[in-house]
Amino acid sequence: MEKNSQRSTSIIIGSSSGIGRALYELYREMKLPVVAVSRSTEWNTDGCVEALDLNEEDQVDEKLDSIFKRYHPVREVYLVSGTGDLESDFEPDIALRTIRLNVNGFTRAAYAASRYFESVQTGHLIGITSVAAVRGSGVARSYNASKAYQSRLLEGIRCHFLKLKLPVQITEVRPGFVDTAMMKGGDKAFWVSSAGKAANQIFRAVRRKQKTVYVTKRGRLVAWILSILPERFLG
Ligand SMILES: NC(=O)c1ccc[n+]([C@@H]2O[C@H](COP(=O)([O-])OP(=O)(O)OC[C@H]3O[C@@H](n4cnc5c(N)ncnc54)[C@H](OP(=O)(O)O)[C@@H]3O)[C@@H](O)[C@H]2O)c1
Repeated sequence: MEKNSQRSTSIIIGSSSGIGRALYELYREMKLPVVAVSRSTEWNTDGCVEALDLNEEDQVDEKLDSIFKRYHPVREVYLVSGTGDLESDFEPDIALRTIRLNVNGFTRAAYAASRYFESVQTGHLIGITSVAAVRGSGVARSYNASKAYQSRLLEGIRCHFLKLKLPVQITEVRPGFVDTAMMKGGDKAFWVSSAGKAANQIFRAVRRKQKTVYVTKRGRLVAWILSILPERFLG
């Protein structure tokens, strides 16, 4: 692959709102080369944006391969896109919708980025999972399960690159509660942080090449509480 720029690019998949948008704005403020990837593109009028719906299974691989080729050299890929809803009954619609994006879409995007990084023998993949990855939940069953899947997938990709002795870094970001559309205007308690604060902490963790990071730091406390709670309190 020919290099088309001396400055390598960061790509943020899922950047039209929430944490992804805050990360994108942070890169723009710092004048670092960044490309936004999202379903909707009209929100971004002055930057670089590529349209991609991770649910369009027959197009995702090809589109991502071509995005990485176009913006080569790519230094970092953030996988931020995600969805989740509470499940009260056992109708499978919410679970299947969650799996489609958080498992199938996430896997396609993580594999496309890994293919690219393996071909150029360097890079940094950052996956936004959740504190929800640490336990099951009676009300967010498929969401928590999908986040546990993402967490293990990222670990597996890290193992792959370690075995190859390639300098490809994998960072798993586990947000606690961040004030975005996903929170659906819910709890604004002291452990809820702004998307901007989360983005700053994610950026610093990525620069330090951390393997796993909780954002904000209170997220670690939330994860610890989740890890010790008896199952009857996880309903
Ligand atoms: N907010 C929290 O408290 C919290 C806590 C833990 C983990 N997280 C995780 O953080 C990540 C970002 O969520 P958020 O809180 O920032 O919520 P958000 O504002 O709802 O962002 C969700 C992102 O996913 C993208 N997306 C949705 N469907 C997509 C699709 N089919 N293809 C590609 N992208 C799609 C959306 O962009 P488009 O609509 O433009 O496609 C949007 O940028 C998610 O993975 C979420 O699970 C959030």
